[in-house]
Amino acid sequence: MIDLIKNLPKAELHLHIEGTLEPELMFELAKKNSVEIPYKTIEDIKKAYNFTNLQSFLDIYYAGANVLQTKEDFYALTWEYILKCVENNIIHTEIFFDPQSHTTRGISFETVLSGIKEALEDAKKEFGITSKIIMCFLRHLSQEEGFKTLEEALPFKKDIIGVGLDSSELGNPPSKFEQLFKKAKDEGFKIVAHAGEEGDVSYIYDSLDLLKVDRIDHGIQAINSKELMQRLKEEQIPLTVCPNSNIELKAFESYKEHNIKKLLDYGLNVTVNSDDPSYFKGYLNQNFINIYENLDLSKDDIIKLVKNSFNSSFLDEGTKIKYL
Ligand code: ADE
Ligand code: ZN
Repeated sequence: MIDLIKNLPKAELHLHIEGTLEPELMFELAKKNSVEIPYKTIEDIKKAYNFTNLQSFLDIYYAGANVLQTKEDFYALTWEYILKCVENNIIHTEIFFDPQSHTTRGISFETVLSGIKEALEDAKKEFGITSKIIMCFLRHLSQEEGFKTLEEALPFKKDIIGVGLDSSELGNPPSKFEQLFKKAKDEGFKIVAHAGEEGDVSYIYDSLDLLKVDRIDHGIQAINSKELMQRLKEEQIPLTVCPNSNIELKAFESYKEHNIKKLLDYGLNVTVNSDDPSYFKGYLNQNFINIYENLDLSKDDIIKLVKNSFNSSFLDEGTKIKYL
């Protein structure tokens, strides 16, 4: 089964490119760009990756992202992830980036996007890996700041398939961004949002009803409402679940407690993803292996999870069929 997991061609739908920054590249870029980081050794970094909740991770993740300064840095970051895709047999990936983490430091939107985009173009040429780019609004910032970022993105619309919502969930509900997401939808962007990672089911309901999402990122708290479970099942709304992330950020005490198998058995459209793999101890295959080893997943479960990802991707229908 482990060989099956490794060998199956897979898609990934929930991956923050800034969350693939490996400690080695962080050091290299910190030195090159003369950015101070609070670590002396790789060991120091690994020790710091010991999280208690989402916010404790985000503080470290945003500090790490400060080493990214030039187009070449964003290219290098993305290319390293592409090499992990090759290792993990990921043949299609839909990656998030957080423009505001960079534009608020004086790095232009174009610098960030062009570095990511060129690496993804080379990934297609060199390995045949296909991809889409989704830009996320940081929900700890205001809707007004989100509107500014959306304006900045409009000249690059052809390169960005959708918009998402990430960062600190608790206290920053979907309703804060209703107008912004309405405008994004009117502009033709696909819509996703992190919801029900730490927040209660109201965050998932409001993502569906106010933001009109095409997919829910995480969504694990849905299990607390039978009515919501029924709706997610009927509408087959994709949930991009990230097992390693949920364990590292203490949503569940252990893999044995993770609810992905329950969600799947209920008939929800669940997918497996790595979120921020450099911070959460493993890329996509390791996420599959961890749930397989702890939750009694069958071969059919694994195949279903993989098919769900291709089906729930933003590939056009003709291309999807070729992958399935
Ligand atoms: N940004 C990067 N990873 C995230 C996560 N798991 N939740 C919210 N925002 C994020
Ligand atoms: Zn995420």
